[in-house]
Amino acid sequence: MGRRALRRIEEDLAAGDYGKARDRLHGLIATFPNDLTLRRKLGDIFWHLQYPAMAGRYWYLEEQKTPDMAAACQAFERSCGDDPLQILLALKFRGEIEAIRDTFAGQTLLTLQARAKEERGVYVENGCFDPMEMDRRPPPPAELDEVISAVASAKKYHTLSLDTIRRVAGRELAIYGSVKAATRATRRRLHQIYGAFDREMDYEAAYRRLEAACGAGSDEEIRAVCRELLSRHSSTAERLPILDRFYPAIWEVTGRPTTLLDLGCGLNPLALPWMSLLPDTRYIALDIAADRVHFLNRYLALAGLQPLARCQDLLVHPPDDAADVALLLKMSPSLERQEKGATLRLMEQLRAPFIVVSFAVKSLGGRQKGMVEHYRQQFLGWAAARQWSVEQLLFETELVFIVKHRA
Ligand SMILES: C[S@@+](CC[C@H](N)C(=O)[O-])C[C@H]1O[C@@H](n2cnc3c(N)ncnc32)[C@H](O)[C@@H]1O
Repeated sequence: MGRRALRRIEEDLAAGDYGKARDRLHGLIATFPNDLTLRRKLGDIFWHLQYPAMAGRYWYLEEQKTPDMAAACQAFERSCGDDPLQILLALKFRGEIEAIRDTFAGQTLLTLQARAKEERGVYVENGCFDPMEMDRRPPPPAELDEVISAVASAKKYHTLSLDTIRRVAGRELAIYGSVKAATRATRRRLHQIYGAFDREMDYEAAYRRLEAACGAGSDEEIRAVCRELLSRHSSTAERLPILDRFYPAIWEVTGRPTTLLDLGCGLNPLALPWMSLLPDTRYIALDIAADRVHFLNRYLALAGLQPLARCQDLLVHPPDDAADVALLLKMSPSLERQEKGATLRLMEQLRAPFIVVSFAVKSLGGRQKGMVEHYRQQFLGWAAARQWSVEQLLFETELVFIVKHRA
């Protein structure tokens, strides 16, 4: 088991680099969830770094606790509002409880599992639960409004679709119960689905640059500006090295669309100069960021297309536009994080004969973690169960599935 990694951790600790040792241990725990000694070590590090509640989180499954450890575990329980569901979710134990059921750790986890089921109505397994299973009584409207306005008033989220904020806030309020904890959790979740991909962008300045390039009538200049703007969103930035080949290869399978649906588009419509679409193409682009959508509509108009971008949450209002091709580029992991099974539910509802679903082959942090094989297995499994015919394209930075789907 990760002996080299353990040696490196010891070296980090000897060199006083507790931050690096902590990060390495997080990675090891994800790979070897059943090895509880790793948790204990991580607890020691958090204690040393003076984060008692975090230390308590990783010491929680230890049977023999010193008085410091017991105090840290109490601090951890308090930070979870003494709620068994929050404690279980925070422990993030992804190992097999059955394999350790006769140990203190196993008994602790099983007791928490039973209490979460009894007190909060949900069954937690592998550190997760299906929120659909939860008692879905709507949260009290006044509390929900409080969470929504606290989140929507932050600069980072003030142009984000209110449908999205309401959907996420409702779910987090159901889990956490208190306005304060739900507000924090809603911000965290919105960062994962929206904030993590963006560099801040001055849309007015970006539009002016595009306008000048279009005014000059130089394709080369338009492409240069689009390229630079595409680099501001991590998804499209990763696509830059393959942009010349990406759309021609897809259209070769689907035919060149005259109506294109780009779902969770990010800045992808700025790749228009590489798409070779006809001038009367209907390019319908949907995303949850109203300021981005407004900018994209101005750009589409500049490029001579109808401004058909819309601010729309795909999970609240699945689109019913008919299209030749629907793009779900690098959307599935985000959709699944938002609602388990969301990708397939959405795909079933789309009115397009071809759906293009793609996946990044590296994580946002740049690590290659067997992602191609993981996504290939997952996606081909989904397709086989539905008897879809699927073409695969593998680019250096993106794995693409083109699904022939009923219209
Ligand atoms: C990983 S990026 C992919 C961007 C683009 N498809 C691409 O590959 O270049 C995810 C995008 O989906 C948007 N998004 C996330 N959840 C969404 C939802 N529920 N409905 C609509 N858009 C969503 C985000 O704002 C973000 O722009």
